[in-house]
Amino acid sequence: MTITLAFDVYGTLIDTAGVTSSLEKHVGESAFRFSSIWREKQLEYSFRRGLMQNYRKFSVCTREALEYTCKTMDVELSSADKNALMLEYRKLPAFADAAEALPRLQSAGFRLYAFSNGPAEDVTALLENAGIAGYFQDVVSTDEIKSFKPNPAVYAHFLRKSGATGSEAWLVSGNPFDVIGAISAGMRGAWIRRLETTVFDPWEIDPTVTVKTLTELENTLQR
Ligand code: 2OP
Repeated sequence: MTITLAFDVYGTLIDTAGVTSSLEKHVGESAFRFSSIWREKQLEYSFRRGLMQNYRKFSVCTREALEYTCKTMDVELSSADKNALMLEYRKLPAFADAAEALPRLQSAGFRLYAFSNGPAEDVTALLENAGIAGYFQDVVSTDEIKSFKPNPAVYAHFLRKSGATGSEAWLVSGNPFDVIGAISAGMRGAWIRRLETTVFDPWEIDPTVTVKTLTELENTLQR
């Protein structure tokens, strides 16, 4: 049985901390708090738009979350500053363990896909800039069905596009909401818990496996 791996992108393959260092120029020591509010509100907006069936592209959720964060933290940024920060999201680096594990997983015969809320063209540009685009058979985007994770329809869309069945398809993500959503929709879920302090939601659904890095994932799946 060939295993198909659906890799979440932001926070799993791609390190969004790079935005925090750019924010330091504008908000100094508040950069980490600003970045955290921005990311949480970006995801919240995607959840709300998915549930409301009032879709806008993920970049719109990101931009509107940036506007919210400026307002709630009373930070004045020019349009040029905001545009520059939005561009940061298009050229973030890959995590070191991604660059190490992906070629080994590919050589081991796993079918690798990138699977994201971001539109395929944005994600492809991001992965190319990060130097890891070549390891994936395809990029599957929730934008193709005008919804967002964790709508079960987006995981079904992934299975249709990849030609995989739930039992042989793993969602790989650092985001607990995504792992829970995929398992709830019938896939397996690998949680990448890079920080010991990150808490998995105390629901009735647990990850199929929990690992600290993508390299550790390879060893776990190879057993
Ligand atoms: C994704 O890449 C939001 O990290 C999530 O779809």
